[in-house]
Amino acid sequence: MKPSLRHSLIFLASLAVAVAATPSPTARKWTIGMSQCNLGEPWRVQMNADLRKAAAAHPEVTVIFKDAQNDTLRQRAQIEEFINSRVDLLIVSPKEAAPLTPPIADAYKRGIPVIVLDRSVLGENYTQFIGADNRRIGRSAGEWIVRQLATHPRVKAGGKARLVELKGLMTSIPGQDRSSGFREALKGQPVEIIFEADMKWLEPEARKEMESALAVHREIDLVYAHNDPGAHGAYLAAKAAGREKSITFVGIDALPHEGLAYVRQGMLGATFEYPTGGAEAIASALQILRGEKVPKRVTLPSRVYTRENLERGGDPLK
Ligand code: FRU
Repeated sequence: MKPSLRHSLIFLASLAVAVAATPSPTARKWTIGMSQCNLGEPWRVQMNADLRKAAAAHPEVTVIFKDAQNDTLRQRAQIEEFINSRVDLLIVSPKEAAPLTPPIADAYKRGIPVIVLDRSVLGENYTQFIGADNRRIGRSAGEWIVRQLATHPRVKAGGKARLVELKGLMTSIPGQDRSSGFREALKGQPVEIIFEADMKWLEPEARKEMESALAVHREIDLVYAHNDPGAHGAYLAAKAAGREKSITFVGIDALPHEGLAYVRQGMLGATFEYPTGGAEAIASALQILRGEKVPKRVTLPSRVYTRENLERGGDPLK
């Protein structure tokens, strides 16, 4: 072998060794802090499971989960802990909008990218918001309800159908949007809201509020609850009063073992899907960590499930 060729081969071999030894950008390890507002509701357990599953496919990321147990002050403190431990990225699903805006903005201003998941905060001091369009879901629920009640005897006789609205926590944006969208759809229609209450997303609260509604109103045609636990709580209250057959119950979330099961069992007339966004959040987190640009908002799609369309997988919202 000519000396020059031998030198070239030695050079190429050492180059290959050097390239292999240099850590590639993807070999970097990242720590993501996830602040979950509570794990008392099945939907949030599902969100964490979706995050875990998506992250498991990426050994370069570790997700540290903290559960605020539905306590805003605890969630604020947990976000501060994540900031102090300098996580590479934060994912937050906040309990309430206003009180969680400052710690999220603080993380963002200190250079920690923040993905806000499902419940939004005020202003724009975060990297990305991921969630479904709650106003649109509320409006679709309202339109479905108006169509459903058009054939009700009270409406056919020229009267108005009588509705109960059991709201999600009204200091959270999904609660506000699910209510305003719903009321938009009801404008000018032969329906009236005869009872409304904030059940704070919680089944026992919804049951209690529904007991009050049943005690005061002898005729209730439909209950619109901002989530499936709320609709189920209302159903149980009506059943205990022997009145569940004359009332239609509508909820939101459509988890397979929760809302979809209730529709299948005939307890709910409809449920609207509210995707957790867990997989999308991990995909976005990786893009952000790799220095790629991401859109400010990601709007997730939703579907409606009724007894008629359940077996064929529901229908997309109109
Ligand atoms: C769970 C939950 C869901 C609801 C969502 C709104 O905490 O109440 O049932 O769809 O939060 O943020």
